[in-house]
Amino acid sequence: MRIPLTIHDGGQSALGKAEGRTGAEALCFMFANLPMIYKKLGNTGERIPAIGLGTWKIPERSKEGLDAILEGLNAGARFIDTAEMYANERLVGKAISRFDADVFLATKVSPHHFRHDDLIRACDASLDRLGVKCIDLYQLHWPNHSVPIKETIGAMEMLADAGKIRHIGVSNFTVEEMIEAQTSMKRYEIISNQVEYSPFSREPESGLLQFCQKEHITLIAYSPLGRGQIFREKKAMGLLGKISATHGATEAQVILSYLISKENVVAIPKSSNKTHVKENVSCVDLRLSEMEIKELDGLGNGSNKPLAGRVLSLFLKNTGVWAKIMEDLEKKRKI
Ligand SMILES: NC(=O)c1ccc[n+]([C@@H]2O[C@H](COP(=O)([O-])OP(=O)(O)OC[C@H]3O[C@@H](n4cnc5c(N)ncnc54)[C@H](OP(=O)(O)O)[C@@H]3O)[C@@H](O)[C@H]2O)c1
Repeated sequence: MRIPLTIHDGGQSALGKAEGRTGAEALCFMFANLPMIYKKLGNTGERIPAIGLGTWKIPERSKEGLDAILEGLNAGARFIDTAEMYANERLVGKAISRFDADVFLATKVSPHHFRHDDLIRACDASLDRLGVKCIDLYQLHWPNHSVPIKETIGAMEMLADAGKIRHIGVSNFTVEEMIEAQTSMKRYEIISNQVEYSPFSREPESGLLQFCQKEHITLIAYSPLGRGQIFREKKAMGLLGKISATHGATEAQVILSYLISKENVVAIPKSSNKTHVKENVSCVDLRLSEMEIKELDGLGNGSNKPLAGRVLSLFLKNTGVWAKIMEDLEKKRKI
């Protein structure tokens, strides 16, 4: 389900928004008269919407959920994330089949299916439930150290060779686990890592985010609204309230705009509520100032940036670990 790669010059105001916000990476896109920011997808040369649709806890038969997804797709969030574990791939399939434009479709295989044959079967079952011939992004949901990563990656590469998946991603992987997975690859690259990232869950900032930015791997921020808990955080709501009032925006929009202002980061908020979905997608209209971004950076207080993470990012900055893996991959591809 390929989305257009070209930058559609649909309106001056939309392009103006892009120029002001996230530098070279962010490009504003007028599609069906709707603004959306598109960001690079790993090293693929493709771009995906900066705001996607999370679907965890949207039940398979939920009419409200289906309507919310369609609202999001119509509003410009043509990137949807599900997982075999969410038990709602049929609902997602139904939504995209009713929508007559391309959607970037991401799903995940559960760790108990990481054995080679299990993984191939799990992918076939996801394809069947989704009602598509190819998944744009197939992700390992979280690491499973009881199955050799080489075996799992071998199956993922086989699926890509067969055209059943277009890209390989991971989720909840540390930098070390990503390196291990990439080292096992013969022909493809890991193009994304989906991890929890919000103003209150800043673990990725202790090395992973910097690594992804340096190596051009897309970081997909899950639970960007802290699973809805964020709205109950008094201290944060003070600052979010102040910034949102300045812009005539909502707190959710400020949070999402803040996250996607980071290089290489896209976010996938979940909502079953059409009004919330629309609100979340239109965060791309917001342009936070550098000062506001700094203030929001301060919400993390640096307290959850462990020393180990900082040491790791220093180590990675000064070594060519990933570059060496890519060099080896090139050699493997030529054999
Ligand atoms: N890879 C992984 O291991 C993993 C783990 C967790 C999540 N995820 C993915 O990330 C997605 C998002 O994460 P999440 O579902 O955990 O949490 P989230 O998106 O941070 O928060 C969802 C909660 O926020 C509420 N909400 C959404 N928009 C709102 C708005 N504008 N105003 C007020 N409330 C709003 C939703 O309620 P309403 O529905 O009522 O709007 C829901 O209760 C998931 O759906 C899933 O696709 C992946």
